[in-house]
Amino acid sequence: MRFFENQPLVNNAPEGRVEGVAKVTGSGKYAAEYKVANQCYAVLVGSTIAAGTINRIHVEEAKELAGVLDVITHLHKPIVPGMADAAKIKESRFGLPILHTDTVYFKGQPIAVVIAETLEDATYAASLVWAEYTTREANVNFDQLHPGVATKADGKERGSVSAWADAPYKVDASYNIQHEVHNPMEMHATIAHWESADKLKLYDKNQGVNNVQRIFAKLWNIPPANIEVISEFVGGGFGSGLRVWPHALAAIMAARQVNRPVKLVLTRPQMFLLVGYRPQSWQQVQLGADSNGRFTGIRHQAKHSTSLYEDFNDGITRVTRMVYQIPNVKTESANVPLNLSTPTWMRGPGDCTGAFAVESAIDELSYQLKMDPVALRLKNLALTQHPESGKPWSTNFLNECIEKGAAMIHWQDRQPQPAQQKEGDWAIGYGMATGMWNAGRGNAGAAIKMQPDGTITVQTAMTDIGTGTGTAMQNITHEQTGITKSKIKIELGHSTLPAAPSQGGSTGLSSISGAVVATCNALKQKLAGYAATQEEVYKSAAPADILLSDTGISYQTHNHHFISYNSLFEKNHLTEVEVEASAGPGAERQQYAFCSSAAHFCRVKVNIKTGKVKIDKMVAVVDGGRIVNEKAAANQVSGAAVGGIGMALMEEQAVDHRYASLVGNDLAGYHFAVNADAPIIEVAFINKPDTNSNPSGAKGLGEVGIIGSAAAIANAIYHATGKRLRNLPVTPDKIL
Ligand code: MOS
Repeated sequence: MRFFENQPLVNNAPEGRVEGVAKVTGSGKYAAEYKVANQCYAVLVGSTIAAGTINRIHVEEAKELAGVLDVITHLHKPIVPGMADAAKIKESRFGLPILHTDTVYFKGQPIAVVIAETLEDATYAASLVWAEYTTREANVNFDQLHPGVATKADGKERGSVSAWADAPYKVDASYNIQHEVHNPMEMHATIAHWESADKLKLYDKNQGVNNVQRIFAKLWNIPPANIEVISEFVGGGFGSGLRVWPHALAAIMAARQVNRPVKLVLTRPQMFLLVGYRPQSWQQVQLGADSNGRFTGIRHQAKHSTSLYEDFNDGITRVTRMVYQIPNVKTESANVPLNLSTPTWMRGPGDCTGAFAVESAIDELSYQLKMDPVALRLKNLALTQHPESGKPWSTNFLNECIEKGAAMIHWQDRQPQPAQQKEGDWAIGYGMATGMWNAGRGNAGAAIKMQPDGTITVQTAMTDIGTGTGTAMQNITHEQTGITKSKIKIELGHSTLPAAPSQGGSTGLSSISGAVVATCNALKQKLAGYAATQEEVYKSAAPADILLSDTGISYQTHNHHFISYNSLFEKNHLTEVEVEASAGPGAERQQYAFCSSAAHFCRVKVNIKTGKVKIDKMVAVVDGGRIVNEKAAANQVSGAAVGGIGMALMEEQAVDHRYASLVGNDLAGYHFAVNADAPIIEVAFINKPDTNSNPSGAKGLGEVGIIGSAAAIANAIYHATGKRLRNLPVTPDKIL
């Protein structure tokens, strides 16, 4: 990855992560790495059928093994108050009623939990548990089932649904994307410890400790404050940690049952099955343009898979109603239940899928129109207002993203016609696409603790799933207080710290930055209160009048009415100063529409004999508002672009329709992009603050790093070869 053009901001030069040393030295602890005294191990037993009813579970043999403490099933389990009956289970909206039903919805559904002294004992004993079933016919064939499921209207319809059909230039095509799996490096794990009958401590891999706390407080009918959730280090999430999954409840039930701390770590194959995935999808896009290349109408239908016990909705058509000014729009969707577990949000959820179809269709239209794909998009962008709500955008610089990206990839070198440029057996092509995402913000809290030597610790419950949230918080605290970064410590991912939203949907920094600014102001105000006992001038000082440094407090200009922290703490008999504040969205969210956006460009080489695709170069230009930490932001976008390569070329969870089972569900069988597949990825930012978004001016940027990138690659393959590929992943067999 290279950094481009943007000069590092003041105090903002590329630098390491606050958690970097802890991560690379191994001192940073992930959920499964904690050791709790007297802890034992739990292993899940999966069903061997994909649909039916459990008639009998045989646990005797497992129970007799030395080291086995108990085996939990739906017939032998501790009481979970929030799942006491069918009505409560429904009301809990927990998803799979794990260990509370004899119904089997998918193959591998946990039907028992073995608890033993060691992982080895538990694993072996789990292999001895078996069940007798009444089997029903399972169906996991999305392609076969989806034509029978009718779509329903999504969002606001505008104009006439058939307007696209009357246009002189039109595309009418369908797009398919296979089932994809998040596969963060760290496996999901929970250590559950009942410290007393109504006090629970969890070391848990997730993207939001307060969410975990809330859900289990409800299920166990205890106050949220009685549940402590620790998720200090998270080895990647990609959306898989935004929900609380059944295995975590299984661990808590196990700990209850044997009255000991229990550790449950999912195996890699279970990671494919029990923590969600991007659903398989089918889309039809019908898009028309007039002879000047102005879009006249679009109809977008989308269907995706879901489970039989939950109706997950990915929101595929949302992006269609956001990016371009189109007078006639109709979007429709449907979910198709299969005998699989429930899918969930994954890497730019919904929009990523929708943008692949729409941005492919726009590309196709550009060739019909004989118009440059860049010019076609620039002509149709909805830059002043959200086309659906009519609200003015707070900021939207997608045009600048496109223009900058075109320059960076040398778009001017591209031949207008496809299949024109070759180097030996390699056909060369250029492609581009755009991405957009609602730039949201939630309520978040933070606290600061200051020591007499001026060292401060900034705290929040928000997790950092690898995006650099802690590092950005340190940057903002430094900007707000003037205190040197090395004196600013960060603590995150613990439910006893001030509450914050889950980290996901590109809202992390947007949500927490307001809280950090508010807390820095609270610190200034509190210190001024103490200073006022020594210097009159601090009595009526506003935060803007107060300047902090590494050593003390000043009024309006540095060293003016200076009082050292040492003196301040001593005179006021303080050992520590602590402040807490929270902040959240306000009326500006009613007034404006918010978006982050990106333009993705790539140059590919396609081997005309083997069908192999090499990404020669990728460019991502992102409007994510102000960039608080360029290195962390660029890391995130280039990581997302690698996800885009995987989506475009490799990622596909094969499902054997005969047995309703996943195939190749491990890191050898499931291909995703690795270093060798990732070329030079050039990332650049528009870096203009959105002052309505939050006090930091950031808008969030994780999702737009991938939304549109798969389309850019497929469009480049078309340009290289003249072959339009509408089904992902674009594997060599599809190219030849
Ligand atoms: Mo995500 S799908 O923003 O964790």
